[in-house]
Amino acid sequence: MADFLKKNLNQNDGIFQLELNNSVAKKVSDFYSNNPFPNYKNDDDKISILEKGNKNLLAYQFKKFVGHNKKIIEIGSGTGQLSTYFSIGNNNLIVAMDATKESLKVAKNFARKNDIQNVLYLNVDIFDDVLTDEYFDFIWCNGVLHHTKNPSAAFNVIIKSLKKNGYILVGLYNKFGRIRTLVRKIFYKTFGIKFLKIFDPTLKKLKISEEEKLAWIKDQYDHPQESLHTLDEVLIWFKKNDIDFISSIPTCDFLDSKYEDIFKKKSRGNYFYRLLSQILMIFNRLGSDGGLFIVIGKKK
Ligand SMILES: C[S@@+](CC[C@H](N)C(=O)[O-])C[C@H]1O[C@@H](n2cnc3c(N)ncnc32)[C@H](O)[C@@H]1O
Repeated sequence: MADFLKKNLNQNDGIFQLELNNSVAKKVSDFYSNNPFPNYKNDDDKISILEKGNKNLLAYQFKKFVGHNKKIIEIGSGTGQLSTYFSIGNNNLIVAMDATKESLKVAKNFARKNDIQNVLYLNVDIFDDVLTDEYFDFIWCNGVLHHTKNPSAAFNVIIKSLKKNGYILVGLYNKFGRIRTLVRKIFYKTFGIKFLKIFDPTLKKLKISEEEKLAWIKDQYDHPQESLHTLDEVLIWFKKNDIDFISSIPTCDFLDSKYEDIFKKKSRGNYFYRLLSQILMIFNRLGSDGGLFIVIGKKK
């Protein structure tokens, strides 16, 4: 049995897997099977993924902070770009976990073609609760929990697999930050894709392929399951699970909006500062592309 698993799972085509039995996970997985996310450009390879990752400030800082010889899990890895990025140039073990088999097949194929050896693929629902307790040094879970039947319960499951002094990064749709996307969604439902091609900032980027654009439209505007969250909700999840708050984007203190070192402990602000910080997302760049907010914590 693989030591990151507490249950014995079959391996099929290089992917550890368990049949999905929860109706929400099935619905979400069917959705992504038709539109694997975030998908690749036809000519993507190890080098282009490395370049893209290095340009992503959050992923770049995370990878630098992780260093070597660590165990990382990306929960809700989709087609696995980020897991690939985290694996390049080091001896870390990365587990790419996702409920959608089709996405992990795309990820595994890419790994085969590009000779990526240190990523393992795991096709399960978070609620299957298969991960070994206190195993990982880092958990990355961005854009995933808000697509589950109960995000707070899903958090309680994944956090068990984090070691003492390990770090977790969670990204969720923000109640305020997502307002611009929700307004675009109303217009999209009336006027169709033409509207999005003009008003969605991600679709206007020249460097993404047609497959990536379609995956983005489906993910942002046609999703069958999504919920919205706040900084305060995540702080409660952290407290319940003995997680020390480290930092967030946007910051909990709206007067301090520096993000050069996301692993440096920052102030939790107060209720009104956090509220203002999130309301400001409606007007700043954090609310332009889907309205995700990020919170980082450390297990006590
Ligand atoms: C929006 S995609 C995010 C992909 C990737 N994290 C990123 O940021 O590009 C959400 C992913 O979460 C996965 N997912 C949703 N619910 C899940 C669950 N209950 N268990 C495991 N994965 C899940 C989906 O299959 C999908 O690949």
